Amino acid sequence: MPTITQFSTRRSEIAGVSIVELADKFGTPSYVYDLNTILERVNDLRAFDTIRYAQKACSNIAILDRLRRAGVLVDAVSAGEIGRALRAGYQPSQIVYTADVFDRDALDLVVKHDISVNVGSPEMIDQLGRVAPGRNITLRINPGFGHGHSQKTNTGGPQSKHGIWHEQIDDCLLRADRNSLVVTGMHMHIGSGTDLEHLSQVCGAMEQACLKVGRTVTTISSGGGLPVPYRSTQTYVDLEQYYALWDATRQRLQDAFGHDIHLEIEPGRYLVAESGFLVAEICAVKTMGENLFYMLDAGFCDLARPILYGAYHPISICHRDNNVSDREVEAVVAGPLCESGDIFTQEEGGFVSRRSLPMAQRGDLLILEVAGAYGFAMSSNYNSRFRAPEILIENGTPKIIRERETLDDLLSRESIPQ
Ligand code: LLP
Repeated sequence: MPTITQFSTRRSEIAGVSIVELADKFGTPSYVYDLNTILERVNDLRAFDTIRYAQKACSNIAILDRLRRAGVLVDAVSAGEIGRALRAGYQPSQIVYTADVFDRDALDLVVKHDISVNVGSPEMIDQLGRVAPGRNITLRINPGFGHGHSQKTNTGGPQSKHGIWHEQIDDCLLRADRNSLVVTGMHMHIGSGTDLEHLSQVCGAMEQACLKVGRTVTTISSGGGLPVPYRSTQTYVDLEQYYALWDATRQRLQDAFGHDIHLEIEPGRYLVAESGFLVAEICAVKTMGENLFYMLDAGFCDLARPILYGAYHPISICHRDNNVSDREVEAVVAGPLCESGDIFTQEEGGFVSRRSLPMAQRGDLLILEVAGAYGFAMSSNYNSRFRAPEILIENGTPKIIRERETLDDLLSRESIPQ
């Protein structure tokens, strides 16, 4: 785990590869990932018995493949994510389906491949038991409290739709018995991008929940939620302390049950956020009253976190011309979409803010950093824009892992009836 991250507003390379070369070769906008950073983050978490990647953060099959090779297991939240994991070479036994509902496709796949289910609603127990009795399941518990970097990423407490309410464990055990299912694991995930204080409150709630279920429990999962710094002022969670709290919880449960308890962690953001960069081109520089706008070829169709959560991403400029002044200006960074909210420098609530950035001109490159998690994964075709390519830098070599979309891709499912 690095100690501190200093973001700079100027950047000329990513993982040793020139950004100008990347832009010339792959075009803009493009997502670029540095595999080394991902693997370093994996190593930070090796103390846990299992690292299970929450692939919703970035589900490209090349990234899943590299994580699989690094010994990381995987979480899937839909039929599509199960399919991705299988295509990336995961064995069904290495996949857990975590969701609050079964849609038909997901239930079919779970049954067909005998994939473990982390149940997020009581009904799912009956649904699974009806078609696949005799299985082991885990329960995702909502402990009654939660926390996230935004209200929209808080996944615990009475306002959250996620998980099984902590007072309904008995009901779930009855349902499991009726369906000959056995509860062998317990899981809690209270939110995304939270802090150590909130993350560690889960330990006590987990212990109580496990004691209620009893000795059938052999696995506990602390969920995801580990934050990463998006600003130079933010720090990492103390992972040693975090692990120590969970390990102590595990020890207490082992003492109570008299058998080993397996400890899992399920991060998404922590593994991939810092590896990812969205490289865009400045297509226009214009003033609107007192505001200077850098207009990009990337919009919220490429990176939705600012418009959704007012999320802050570090921004840097890569000049095409080396003879540039070191002048900084206050700029608003905006995308190409026909929608006024298409602004990367905005606060929660949609208030436009300015960022101190190097003076730039049309043709210069602008990099939205720490964009690997929930970046491409939440991208869309809004305004019929083609989704950006994804490039993985491995051992200093950029490799294309998803091509830029084309008009044919965009229209491949549409037809005009006669
Ligand atoms: N496990 C479960 C059950 C989850 O629901 C999530 C995230 C994770 C693990 C991974 O959480 P992480 O380690 O990435 O914090 N789109 C939002 C984040 C939504 C997270 C949803 N669930 C964002 O861009 O911040």
